[in-house]
Amino acid sequence: MPTDQFSVEGRNAIVTGASQGIGRTIAERLAADGASVAICSRAQERVDPVAEGIRDDGGRALAVECDVRDREAVDAFVEATVEEFGGVDLLVNNAGGEFVAAFEDISENGWKSIVDLNLHGTFHCTQAAGAHMRAGQGGCIVNVSSVNGQHAAPNESHYSAAKAAIIRLTETLAVEWADDGVRVNCVAPGLIQTPGVADTLGIREESMPARETVDRRIGYTEDVADVVQFLASDAAAFMTGETVTVKGVPRPGNSFDVDLGLE
Ligand SMILES: NC(=O)c1ccc[n+]([C@@H]2O[C@H](COP(=O)([O-])OP(=O)(O)OC[C@H]3O[C@@H](n4cnc5c(N)ncnc54)[C@H](OP(=O)(O)O)[C@@H]3O)[C@@H](O)[C@H]2O)c1
Repeated sequence: MPTDQFSVEGRNAIVTGASQGIGRTIAERLAADGASVAICSRAQERVDPVAEGIRDDGGRALAVECDVRDREAVDAFVEATVEEFGGVDLLVNNAGGEFVAAFEDISENGWKSIVDLNLHGTFHCTQAAGAHMRAGQGGCIVNVSSVNGQHAAPNESHYSAAKAAIIRLTETLAVEWADDGVRVNCVAPGLIQTPGVADTLGIREESMPARETVDRRIGYTEDVADVVQFLASDAAAFMTGETVTVKGVPRPGNSFDVDLGLE
């Protein structure tokens, strides 16, 4: 297979939640490989510098303030992308997050906020961008789930439920939209070093016990971006409905079955 099968050059991509962390690295990676990249976060001032950095490196980027929980804002984001790039054929549903709490301590609002961000945000962006893909030449969607959507995740029941639903949605849409030429795949990262993990879980690389992978390291955002680029490329043309786990060596239990020293 020629190596350019792994390229996303010329694609018009949307990456949600790209002001930092995994989404930022995915956006920078796709742009460096020649994709036009539209990125969003809840604050224009946080997402602007990422787009400026991409443009400084010779890439093409559009930054839009958009809360993925807000359907009207998502529709406007997708329309702005189509207007700027002429279409959209790649969507990375990355925006997501969580807080840690025992199930009995999660308020209704807390539960809804996590499901809204992770699952409904994916629903909004997929419907809005998917309409353009289906009406055009097809496209590719990569959802970002989590290993905590693949197995029990104590103290993350809301997040685990939402991320599990994203995996089922991936499988279902892959079938529903197959005839429209839209591939739908998913990545399920393990513990990845990001600002979100540092803020939410209080985990930093130096505090990582040697537990997570056989090579004794935390995952990096580049580990996830590598797999997203592959799934987005023609090298994955015969893959749809799949969830690719990105967590180092398999091990029993979940990410939080050892003492993380959480405050
Ligand atoms: N890091 C891990 O260990 C890990 C493991 C498994 C799965 N994941 C998943 O990977 C994705 C990225 O995680 P991360 O660790 O990189 O997170 P992060 O560092 O907290 O970054 C989250 C990004 O999403 C944006 N965002 C948050 N809420 C948003 C909203 N309502 N609308 C639009 N953008 C929003 C944030 O930007 P603003 O704050 O500027 O809005 C930020 O750019 C998430 O879906 C997460 O669940 C992460």
